[in-house]
Amino acid sequence: MIQTVRGVRDIPPEESAGWLFLEEQARRIFQQYGYRELRTPIFERVELFARAVGETSDIVEKEMYLFQDRGGETLCLRPEGTASAVRSFIETSRHRSLPWRVFYMGPMFRYERPQKGRYRQFHQIGCELFGPAGPLADAEMMALVLRLLEAIGIGSAVTLEINSLGCPVCRGPYRERLTAHLHERRTQLCGNCQRRLERNPLRVLDCKEEDPALLHEVPRMLDHVCDGCQEHFAGLTGHLTDLQLPFRINPFMVRGLDYYHRTAFEAIATGLGAQNAVAAGGRYDGLVAEMGGVSTPAVGFAMGMERLLLLMEEQRIPVVRPDLYLVVAGDRMVDGYGLQLAEQWRRAGLRVEMHLSGGSMKSQMKHAGRSLAPVTALIGTQETAEQTVTLKWMESGVQESLSAERVLERLLQTNA
Ligand code: HAM
Repeated sequence: MIQTVRGVRDIPPEESAGWLFLEEQARRIFQQYGYRELRTPIFERVELFARAVGETSDIVEKEMYLFQDRGGETLCLRPEGTASAVRSFIETSRHRSLPWRVFYMGPMFRYERPQKGRYRQFHQIGCELFGPAGPLADAEMMALVLRLLEAIGIGSAVTLEINSLGCPVCRGPYRERLTAHLHERRTQLCGNCQRRLERNPLRVLDCKEEDPALLHEVPRMLDHVCDGCQEHFAGLTGHLTDLQLPFRINPFMVRGLDYYHRTAFEAIATGLGAQNAVAAGGRYDGLVAEMGGVSTPAVGFAMGMERLLLLMEEQRIPVVRPDLYLVVAGDRMVDGYGLQLAEQWRRAGLRVEMHLSGGSMKSQMKHAGRSLAPVTALIGTQETAEQTVTLKWMESGVQESLSAERVLERLLQTNA
């Protein structure tokens, strides 16, 4: 019998509803922020990733799926989406009409050691924004990530971590300082880090093998960034605060791809084990010019779809969500009025859920929130007496009171 390749899996029909739900939510939210879909090929020239992601990165050194086509050209399956977006940006001269906002979703390939949440074919959803150089663009990226996590019900299971990786002005001197510091303690480092000390000393900072006491003492990038980078980082934390997006500064975060400047961020989930980054990204202002394009600042992120779905499963998030959740106040549970309306709405094609065991308004609202229905219909004594319904739109919190006949029309309109 021929089996699937190691680290690669089918998405069976029982799971595909979850994938569709995730893709739908991503499309909806990214479009709200002005992003349009970019579809790029699954294979590219190998030089694209060698140059963009970095010759010394793990991805390029040991994880690429390389092959020669029949014409003798060396190609690879894409390990990530940013390099292709940059190639497309340059090839189609997008610098002429900035900003350029794109999103993508699809399979990526890395020859990594498979484990829970880590596969050799995995799927990313990502966004890239070309043009704006200020920290507001970085904050927009993080807002996109957090809004999507919220929409799929796992917002509270994830922490946003941020750091600054400096720029070409300040990273060189910091790297020297760090290397000198680590050289003095070379014998205390793990074998892997001793080897990469010369070529990629920053990676020591996020090595899981190192003694926390040793890491605690190392010079931190954030204490050594130049004035420009410092100002950018302060601007970013200010915007995140204005947007009410909670974050944590993690001075040890370094990314495994070489193209980042200044802002780097990750969304870290509790409860996923070692592979706990569900999204990651940052600013890459130098990359377009390095790849031969007209110098253009850019920022982006990508999320791992398998990890998001694992987390949703762990949090018992339903993937088939109702169109409407019905909450009926009082201890009569669902009264005749509410029941009739629910049946009428279902006959019209809507998915309507309600908590059949009654309970307080507060606990029913909790169930409504967990169901991820975009809208809740509230029926209290006043609504029953007046033959009306109060609709509460869950994302905005906006409420409206409508007559029973108008409700269906309104719901079908938003579902169209
Ligand atoms: P990355 O950190 O390599 O960044 O990957 C982003 C996300 O993809 C990770 O946080 C994780 O959720 C998921 N991921 C990565 N490798 C695997 C794997 N083997 N199995 C399952 N999931 C995985 C990038 O790829 C950058 N291109 C992100 C970016 C976009 N930066 C700027 N723009």
